[in-house]
Amino acid sequence: MGAGSSLETRKRQLQYLEAMGIQAWDLRNSAIEPLAVEQNIAEVAGMDASPADIPGQSAVSGFDWETLRARVKVCTLCDLHTSRTQSVFGVGNRNADWLLIGEAPGRDEDQQGEPFVGRAGQLLNAMLQAIGLQREQIYIANILKCRPPGNRDPRPQEVVCCEPYLMRQIELIQPRLILALGRIAAQNLLNTETPIGQLRGRVHQFRDTGIPLIATYHPAYLLRSPVEKRKAWQDLQLAVETLQEQV
Ligand code: URA
Repeated sequence: MGAGSSLETRKRQLQYLEAMGIQAWDLRNSAIEPLAVEQNIAEVAGMDASPADIPGQSAVSGFDWETLRARVKVCTLCDLHTSRTQSVFGVGNRNADWLLIGEAPGRDEDQQGEPFVGRAGQLLNAMLQAIGLQREQIYIANILKCRPPGNRDPRPQEVVCCEPYLMRQIELIQPRLILALGRIAAQNLLNTETPIGQLRGRVHQFRDTGIPLIATYHPAYLLRSPVEKRKAWQDLQLAVETLQEQV
């Protein structure tokens, strides 16, 4: 998937970022070369569903996209189904090189049925544009398919219930790179409690798949802490470079 690297592309990126008022992405002041573009088997303790009700990977293995989507739509494995407007399956190019994984739908996503359509999504779009990617080129999903009330953190049992769906999506997409957006996504995908500040900035492997995984800050966090946008930019560059090295 193309991530532009020409001077023209870079100029457009800068204009775009300026138009978005994204000052901390001010590449001209950064140390970045101007053209260098670029648990979960969590304890099941406290689960409402009994372990027998939880779909193991085998429960959805072999599912095609439509069957998987239909299953997610009617999922009642955890309590989140009682408060959701709808589940948020994921969206994008099913043959994408890039798979972005966030935490869980928020209010806007719960209402619209698509990941990252609120304010954080707008910033995510700008971040993607900055590396020459359109949303249509990538696939976006979340650790959870349903919104936790009040946007609280996902509970371990919710993650356990939902994980097989995401794992099947990863199998179907076979992305060349996973970008974990934020602490919750990074820690769950990497099965660690290491803080996001230590997980970002390097290339991990997604479990035993060999797919490179890069963790970065969640766009909602960047809206609250714009000073960290520069580090997120560095993470995106690392992702672009990691993909380029694979070719
Ligand atoms: N935050 C997320 O992690 N995912 C979304 O889809 C929206 C906001």
